[in-house]
Amino acid sequence: MLAGFVTFEGIDGSGKTTVSHLVLEKLRSRGHSVFLTSEPTSGWLGDLVRRGIQEDVNAITESFLFLADRSVHIGQIRSHLEKGELVLCDRYADSTFAYQGARLVGVLPDPIRFLQNASRGWLLSPDLTILLRVSPELGMNRIKGRPMKIRFEDLGLLRRVAANYDRLARSRRFAVLDGARSAQVVSEDAVSTIERRLARRGRT
Ligand code: TMP
Repeated sequence: MLAGFVTFEGIDGSGKTTVSHLVLEKLRSRGHSVFLTSEPTSGWLGDLVRRGIQEDVNAITESFLFLADRSVHIGQIRSHLEKGELVLCDRYADSTFAYQGARLVGVLPDPIRFLQNASRGWLLSPDLTILLRVSPELGMNRIKGRPMKIRFEDLGLLRRVAANYDRLARSRRFAVLDGARSAQVVSEDAVSTIERRLARRGRT
């Protein structure tokens, strides 16, 4: 049985939500016990995050809202990991490092380091982070038709977010997959990456 904590990351329009659902189905059909969750969460702190974004709070406030939501979410993630399950999470800490790391440019000297320091000591580190890499232009094109446009969907910002993801993905915790392919192909690739990486870590 596969067990461990796997996060999906990428810019808006990278296909994370579709791919993580397909990965959930594929792994469940192979008999694994899998729990899929996402951030911002569906809890009241997640609602506060969405409200903060709608009301255009400043980037510092926004950052702490995402961190607060995560600090509660970690308790839920841990309880599933303790049952020996595989937890998949659609966006997690690297979203804050990449997005708020871009939004805080000009506000703080080293935003990513600031956010990483603010997470140190309580953050649960993923066993594997899958970055679905697409160009900001393709990401923007894919989200064009979506009904609820939220403020982060802006090409200039997405370019900075994409650059932050590339920097974060230098860590060995990451696997970078080409998200420009079809969701079926990407999800097959993600499943084999999860099987390979978690097996290597002795998590099966
Ligand atoms: P979603 O479209 O994947 O549900 O994410 C909602 C938006 O929230 C998306 O534009 C990315 C952004 N976001 C952050 O800026 N920081 C975070 O920590 C998270 C989890 C999401």
